[in-house]
Amino acid sequence: MKIFYLLLSVVLGASAPSVQSQSSAPITDPASFVLPFIGTTNGGHVFPGATLPHGMAKVGMDTDSPGNQAGYDANATFNATGFSQLHDTGTGGSISLSNFKLWAFVNCTDFAHCPTSIASRKVLRNVLPDGSPDDFASPGYFSSNLSTGIRVELTSTRRTGLHRYTFPPGTVEPRMVVDITDDGQMSSTFPVMTLDPSTARVTGQAEFAASFGPGRYTAYTCVDFAGQGFELGAPTEYGTFLADFPVQGQTDLNQLYFGFIDQLGALFTFAPAPEGTPTVILARAGVSFISSEQACENAEEEIPDFDFDSVSAASRATWNELLGRIQVDTTNVTTEMIQLFYSALYRTHISPADYTGENPKWNSTEPYYDSYYCNWDTFRALYSLTALHDPVRFSEIVRAMIDIQKHEGWLPECRGATAQQFIQGGSNGDPILGEFFVKYSEQAAALNVSADDLYTALLADAELQPPNWNLQGRQANAWKEFNYVPQDMFDAGGANTKQVSRTLEYAFGDFAISQVAKILGKADDAAKYAQRAENFNNVWNPNVSVPGTPSVLGMMQPRFKNGTFNFTDPRHCSVHDPEMATCFLNAADRDGFYEASPIVYSQFVPHDTARLIELQGGNESFVNRLDFIFNESYFDVTDEPSMQIPFMYHYANLPGISTQRARLIIAESFNTSISGIPGNDVLGAMGAYSAFYLLGMYPVPATRQYLLSSPFFSSVSFFNPVFNSTTTIKANGFEGNPANGTGGKVFVESVTVNGEPYKSNCFLDWDVFTNGSLVELTLTDNPNVSCGAGAEALPPSLSTGGFS
Ligand SMILES: *[C@@H]1O[C@H](CO)[C@@H](O)[C@H](O)[C@H]1NC(C)=O
Ligand SMILES: *[C@@H]1O[C@H](CO)[C@@H](O)[C@H](O)[C@H]1NC(C)=O
Ligand SMILES: *[C@@H]1O[C@H](CO)[C@@H](O)[C@H](O)[C@H]1NC(C)=O
Ligand SMILES: *[C@@H]1O[C@H](CO)[C@@H](O)[C@H](O)[C@H]1NC(C)=O
Ligand SMILES: *[C@@H]1O[C@H](CO)[C@@H](O)[C@H](O)[C@H]1NC(C)=O
Ligand SMILES: *[C@@H]1O[C@H](CO)[C@@H](O)[C@H](O)[C@H]1NC(C)=O
Ligand SMILES: *[C@@H]1O[C@H](CO)[C@@H](O)[C@H](O)[C@H]1NC(C)=O
Ligand SMILES: *[C@@H]1O[C@H](CO)[C@@H](O)[C@H](O)[C@H]1NC(C)=O
Ligand SMILES: *[C@@H]1O[C@H](CO)[C@@H](O)[C@H](O)[C@H]1NC(C)=O
Ligand SMILES: *[C@@H]1O[C@H](CO)[C@@H](O)[C@H](O)[C@H]1NC(C)=O
Ligand SMILES: *[C@@H]1O[C@H](CO)[C@@H](O)[C@H](O)[C@H]1NC(C)=O
Ligand SMILES: *[C@@H]1O[C@H](CO)[C@@H](O)[C@H](O)[C@H]1NC(C)=O
Repeated sequence: MKIFYLLLSVVLGASAPSVQSQSSAPITDPASFVLPFIGTTNGGHVFPGATLPHGMAKVGMDTDSPGNQAGYDANATFNATGFSQLHDTGTGGSISLSNFKLWAFVNCTDFAHCPTSIASRKVLRNVLPDGSPDDFASPGYFSSNLSTGIRVELTSTRRTGLHRYTFPPGTVEPRMVVDITDDGQMSSTFPVMTLDPSTARVTGQAEFAASFGPGRYTAYTCVDFAGQGFELGAPTEYGTFLADFPVQGQTDLNQLYFGFIDQLGALFTFAPAPEGTPTVILARAGVSFISSEQACENAEEEIPDFDFDSVSAASRATWNELLGRIQVDTTNVTTEMIQLFYSALYRTHISPADYTGENPKWNSTEPYYDSYYCNWDTFRALYSLTALHDPVRFSEIVRAMIDIQKHEGWLPECRGATAQQFIQGGSNGDPILGEFFVKYSEQAAALNVSADDLYTALLADAELQPPNWNLQGRQANAWKEFNYVPQDMFDAGGANTKQVSRTLEYAFGDFAISQVAKILGKADDAAKYAQRAENFNNVWNPNVSVPGTPSVLGMMQPRFKNGTFNFTDPRHCSVHDPEMATCFLNAADRDGFYEASPIVYSQFVPHDTARLIELQGGNESFVNRLDFIFNESYFDVTDEPSMQIPFMYHYANLPGISTQRARLIIAESFNTSISGIPGNDVLGAMGAYSAFYLLGMYPVPATRQYLLSSPFFSSVSFFNPVFNSTTTIKANGFEGNPANGTGGKVFVESVTVNGEPYKSNCFLDWDVFTNGSLVELTLTDNPNVSCGAGAEALPPSLSTGGFS
């Protein structure tokens, strides 16, 4: 997903580069290198608030900016509108999960005239001398100083947000708002709320619109208040509000709710702290998708004592343990590089979110994860990073996906807020399950992943036509009958779009299934799905070339049921599209491709690049085409389909060119500023992509191989808690990273594993990461390196013997 937005390059919190020259000690506080504001403007849509790894509660500031899908905007001209409890990160669609905002007033003139609506209450943040807002964030913690003089701090547990509002001296009537209905989209219906006049507890709920689909969901909250350093006591005034009209003494919405007005909630006045004690009010907001009673239970269980500092410290400790599993040697690199890496890694652990115990749709003893938004974005790299250092979490996500298939028939694709959302391409849960099983089949039972259920779930996607393949599954009947998705087949369900990109993704999905079948000893199935994985050949039209460039000949193209091809201009949906057409989900021109040009999609065969090279006329012409893609700006760093292209030179035995391309992309498109991500981060999809580049690797999902380049550090290591082993990749001779991304002693000349020469300089097998190996790279400044001389030196492809 991508969204274009204005460019902004103010650096938030990045310290001046300093370069060390001694070998570094282990990083014990990686959280100190995380800059959560990276990507919070310029369309990155990153959530910078407080969350645990994969927490359901994501407590953060909401602003009145356009394009604040994750609530926040780092541009100080925008006002704060509230501090809400859920959120997604990096997504497109509509504003997502900005539910149950809290707000504080210093001194309104009187209760009945407090400006409770969003439009009336919103205020600017304090602005620092450099023009940035006075906001701070680090893993598990967020704070802001509002122009009203109120300081807001946020932290969280899995299902509960804890807020700390410090009022300015002289506040005589601190007041708190609990907004039940505003979700950022103003989509609520059926609001319910009750407040307790003696305790100020608010319980509430409403139904809201999902962000990227037709579904709706109901969310619940339970908010309690406490004083810090003083007894808060019962509120001195209480009531409900409708827009800008507080009604004192009301304890529920029944008399207010006389139609569709989307601004309802509770307002309290508290006595300030005694003279000499600052007025600090804590607000604890439990959330649930089951009931407000459960929201209260969650809050009471997770944060019994309102101890803000210990909740925040516990969250940070959890983050440090997780992030610290990947260690980088800081010798000869800038602080910015360390920040870039740990911030990217951090962003890959915000979603999917652990909603276990919060699934309103069925009861199950399996984990329940939500916010897969979308697998189309994350299947490419994110889970292959998770596989390296967070296998237990990965297994829980896989179990949750399988459980969803058991109850809804198909694997989730773009699920969010408990609702099915729009599918962007294929059934991309398949390569995610494939990735897990190919790497962890031997540990699956111990991780409580049922191999049978996993396989059944994959087969459902592959074989069964869903009622609406816009929301789940595939256009399976068409796929089975034609071995491609014909452009003129209007069967029930779904929208008649993106037939070519879906064909390519279905083929990759079937490859993932064949990999799983092979491990399960199902030889016939393995052969059948490997055959179907070759269906990309069926949409290859050898006669179509790029207008004006006849040498770039042969293109993935839409095809009719009768076997003849339709024509889509290869430049369609690129910067050179003469029609300037778009290819988003709501695009007017539905020419067979989703969010990328035919030129980009004509490279998408991760499982059989060898065959693709044949189709494209051999190594030389393949490499010319890759160069053409970069030189003519068809490579689109802002969108996921381009992600794997830079590393494709590996397959033509030119890994030095891949290294060079990848390093230029980091230098040109990723940095630690608030606009430091190209395009939407989409649940950390861009985070995973850049983290892999910085680690000197790129994944081939659902295989045991990682493509290899050189890390941006003299050494990187991976601790895997399931294997209880640490694998280290050491870049011998590392001298640092050329700032402009060009040249340097960064090219991999040879590789040893545990002291023995390795079969390839271009990839590492998964075994390297299970055994706790020492991988040593010899670097050179000569980009003309190769994968090695042996028969096994090139990365595998399906048509040249397949994947072991
Ligand atoms: C912040 O947003 C305002 C209003 O949209 C815009 O005019 C301004 O250029 C933005 N500031 C920066 C630094 O991008
Ligand atoms: C911030 O709020 C003020 C007061 O409502 C308003 O005048 C201003 O336009 C808002 N800023 C933006 C960027 O919308
Ligand atoms: C807000 O103000 C407090 C002092 O009241 C200061 O300690 C803090 O650094 C400021 N900034 C943020 C983002 O909290
Ligand atoms: C709040 O109101 C009181 C009484 O009018 C006043 O003395 C005080 O300065 C106000 N405080 C703030 C922070 O505005
Ligand atoms: C789950 O179980 C609880 C307790 O038995 C029951 O109240 C609830 O309705 C069940 N939920 C669903 C979706 O079946
Ligand atoms: C697997 O399930 C067993 C039995 O319920 C449980 O004891 C164990 O902790 C689970 N393991 C994992 C990794 O979830
Ligand atoms: C491509 O052109 C050749 C030669 O004209 C022709 O035989 C072949 O059928 C064409 N293929 C397609 C898919 O149009
Ligand atoms: C094939 O189908 C397309 C679309 O229905 C049609 O326009 C075309 O004429 C057909 N070609 C042949 C050879 O039947
Ligand atoms: C063939 O492609 C053109 C151009 O994209 C499109 O307008 C037309 O609808 C397609 N034909 C069919 C039958 O889908
Ligand atoms: C993990 O390995 C370390 C040594 O590397 C060992 O001390 C520790 O006991 C092992 N832990 C488990 C649970 O096996
Ligand atoms: C750091 O780089 C310098 C050259 O720039 C090199 O001499 C030195 O060995 C490097 N240090 C390490 C620990 O790699
Ligand atoms: C990149 O930087 C290196 C060394 O700083 C310099 O030699 C080279 O010319 C630069 N290349 C480009 C393309 O700017």
